[in-house]
Amino acid sequence: MPKWIEGTVVNQKRWTETLFTLCVDAEVTAFEAGQFAKLALAVGSEMLARPYSFVNAPKERPHEFYYVTLPEGPLTQRLCKLESGDTVYLAPRPSGFLVLSEVPDGTNLWLISTGTGVGPFLSILKTDVPWQRFQQVVLVHAVRHPDELTYRDSIERLLDERGERMRVVSFLSREERSGTLHGRIPAAIEDGRLEATAGVALSVKTSQVMICGNPEMVTDTTEALKRRGMKKHRRRDPGHITVENYW
Ligand SMILES: Cc1cc2nc3c(=O)[nH]c(=O)nc-3n(C[C@H](O)[C@H](O)[C@H](O)COP(=O)(O)OP(=O)(O)OC[C@H]3O[C@@H](n4cnc5c(N)ncnc54)[C@H](O)[C@@H]3O)c2cc1C
Ligand SMILES: NC(=O)c1ccc[n+]([C@@H]2O[C@H](COP(=O)([O-])OP(=O)(O)OC[C@H]3O[C@@H](n4cnc5c(N)ncnc54)[C@H](OP(=O)(O)O)[C@@H]3O)[C@@H](O)[C@H]2O)c1
Repeated sequence: MPKWIEGTVVNQKRWTETLFTLCVDAEVTAFEAGQFAKLALAVGSEMLARPYSFVNAPKERPHEFYYVTLPEGPLTQRLCKLESGDTVYLAPRPSGFLVLSEVPDGTNLWLISTGTGVGPFLSILKTDVPWQRFQQVVLVHAVRHPDELTYRDSIERLLDERGERMRVVSFLSREERSGTLHGRIPAAIEDGRLEATAGVALSVKTSQVMICGNPEMVTDTTEALKRRGMKKHRRRDPGHITVENYW
């Protein structure tokens, strides 16, 4: 198998000054919703590569990657300049463990994200698997400002399709807006606001939790859940919490 395969950019959507979605045609091997691809660009004689989660469901094409540009980010400052028809390289085999095949059964599934960490959960939600395995699914997305609450059309479509079985809770940390919670996820777990807003119990008996994004949020949220008796899930020691850190 070659180290890199050639993909072609089919679209680059700009949501805000720093948030983008890159759509790519490429023949990577099959992936499970929640996994990531390695994207790379040739810089001099080197390949500059970083992992990015698939936002598209496994059956959907083109492949879709949601990313934020970092002020001095070596790859993201290059990715955001790509246009339709440009080449981007992908590692042929997707990977990652933020997938439902690694998550035990439960009554409800919580998908907790900050920033671009919502991407893999959109992929998961577009498949039938969470709806076959859980009675209710709660998507939690925390960002700094309202314009960073992206992918609202996709989320509205899922809500229309799934009705009462899907709940969405959005957080803004640096502004207050009606219809959103203010502050951070771990504090809202501690004081009960997250569950009250979702209308779903977050409990050791009924819940499985997947967490993705800012590593400090992942740690602090995991700690808040541990105080409710939950523990990290391991194949040999089943628990309730499955995580992916983005850096
Ligand atoms: C498994 C995995 C999946 C990932 N999936 C995505 C994804 O779908 N979308 C995405 O935007 N990034 C994702 N990342 C992060 C991504 O791989 C790069 O690290 C990021 O795009 C920055 O690359 P860079 O070369 O521009 O800057 P770098 O020099 O590599 O990063 C600079 C700094 O930016 C911060 N940072 C990195 N990524 C993010 C982020 N997503 N949000 C906020 N701050 C960040 C960190 O402090 C990092 O040290 C993922 C990382 C991992 C490990
Ligand atoms: N978003 C912007 O306006 C902006 C602008 C220019 C550059 N950048 C850079 O772009 C990068 C990405 O920014 P981002 O806003 O997408 O990602 P981010 O910094 O990870 O923030 C996303 C959300 O996670 C929250 N968060 C951070 N630490 C947490 C913790 N320990 N527990 C719970 N929640 C936590 C943030 O709340 P808090 O707000 O309370 O931290 C925010 O609501 C950063 O490196 C940033 O410097 C961002």
